[in-house]
Amino acid sequence: MPVAGKGLCKRFRQVAGSGEFVFHGAVFLATSGRHEQGEAREDGIFGYGANVMNAARDAFIEAMRQVAATVTVVTTDGPAGQMGATVSAFTSLSADPPSVLVCLKSDSRIARAVGDNGAFCVNVLPEDADDLARAFAGAFDAQRPDRFHGLDVMATEFGPVLPRATAFTCTLQRSVGHGTHAICIGAVTGISNAGQAPLTYMQGDFHVVRRKSGG
Ligand SMILES: Cc1cc2nc3c(=O)[nH]c(=O)nc-3n(C[C@H](O)[C@H](O)[C@H](O)COP(=O)(O)O)c2cc1C
Repeated sequence: MPVAGKGLCKRFRQVAGSGEFVFHGAVFLATSGRHEQGEAREDGIFGYGANVMNAARDAFIEAMRQVAATVTVVTTDGPAGQMGATVSAFTSLSADPPSVLVCLKSDSRIARAVGDNGAFCVNVLPEDADDLARAFAGAFDAQRPDRFHGLDVMATEFGPVLPRATAFTCTLQRSVGHGTHAICIGAVTGISNAGQAPLTYMQGDFHVVRRKSGG
């Protein structure tokens, strides 16, 4: 059944009675607690009841599993103490002025520490640092609570720079809450370019990047 709407939604087709939309052969689930199933909003977003929310969440997570992300460790230091956590939600935001953003789960220790310290350091991990990524995601916290234990870090007032990482030290400019996470915008104060191939994460596992040459 074709669905009337504005913008993007004209390109969606509803699967009869399923609450799903097909977009170029892929399933699209739109959710909003404020709207009845199938209702088109002025902004072209379709709303669904709570019964579809979980399916939409699952579809979102499954689709995001296919998206490759660079693996970083966000560290921080200051009055709230030293902290570090593995973070793949990192992106360049602007070169004028040099700015980056990371998304941190609002109730995590790293989010609280970054907020309290007003500073952080993004360490882009080299491709062989998957064990470090696991460590800073808490995999060995039970045996080794100090995630920095044994690491030859370079201390900065923003947060430790990890060995062989490309690092961006930042002051926290702004933090915007959305859902379960906070978007932390950092003004870059310093850069250490290690020139290493980066570690990436997709489909629930770590990967290395290889150059595609020859078409
Ligand atoms: C590959 C990978 C990527 C991750 N990306 C993020 C992320 O972008 N944001 C986030 O808040 N947590 C992310 N995590 C989870 C945190 O590393 C984990 O919850 C960590 O323990 C949080 O630190 P905390 O001890 O300060 O709460 C990721 C974990 C892994 C293994």
